[in-house]
Amino acid sequence: MWLFCYNTPMRLDKVLANSGYGTRSEVKDYFRQGRVCLQGAIIRDPGFSVTEEQLQDLTLDGVPVLASEHLYFCLYKPDGYLTAMTDDRLPCVGDLLPTNLKTKKISPVGRLDYHTTGVLLLTNDGELSHRLTSPKWHCEKEYLVTYEGDPLTEKETVLFASGMTLREKDHAPEKLKPAKLELLSDHQCRLTLTEGKTHQVKRMLAQTGRPVIALHRESIGSLRLREDQKPGEMYALSSDDIDELKDLSSDL
Ligand code: URA
Repeated sequence: MWLFCYNTPMRLDKVLANSGYGTRSEVKDYFRQGRVCLQGAIIRDPGFSVTEEQLQDLTLDGVPVLASEHLYFCLYKPDGYLTAMTDDRLPCVGDLLPTNLKTKKISPVGRLDYHTTGVLLLTNDGELSHRLTSPKWHCEKEYLVTYEGDPLTEKETVLFASGMTLREKDHAPEKLKPAKLELLSDHQCRLTLTEGKTHQVKRMLAQTGRPVIALHRESIGSLRLREDQKPGEMYALSSDDIDELKDLSSDL
């Protein structure tokens, strides 16, 4: 845990605020409202201090607190947002972060196009982010694709599964990893990739003569949007979610 320095005691309001649960003043209210418990006992004093060793079973509203300076969120990226933290001209995903997280050096892992919607992982864990964007990482990412043109067929299913080669004007041929294509309806399919080349889905479909008109990322590994999650909303990953991502990328 990065929050504590050499096991010196730290105030619980600081633990919560530094772990992304709210501003210092919001967090102080949680204590006054009796929402914070340590080992089952309600703690009303925001200044109550503990060492890292004493910090066991800290809960907010009964939910275990992830006390870490590393934060992990699953954002439902809306249409019309750049995958960037700041931009002078266009809306970007950084604009969707609550104010108390703006100073936490959080950034997106990988990139979705301006009009692509769906699962976007945000974190300030640089090491994990680096591993997850490495070309060596083979985690499955599912995309729901809406396209124009003739319906895709078994021919494209076989082509994508064999690992197609992108042949584009003014570019060297690029061999892709096998991808899984599920035909859902005449103009919709699900494409599962294990790599993340720039505009990969659009380029694969374009090579078969079909422009993509809408693209939505449904998952990264086991990470999915919540059923009631709306575009622009994000949730903090649970420690199980984080462990799974770390395990998936641990042998890179
Ligand atoms: N492939 C694309 O073409 N665009 C995205 O945003 C993601 C994958």
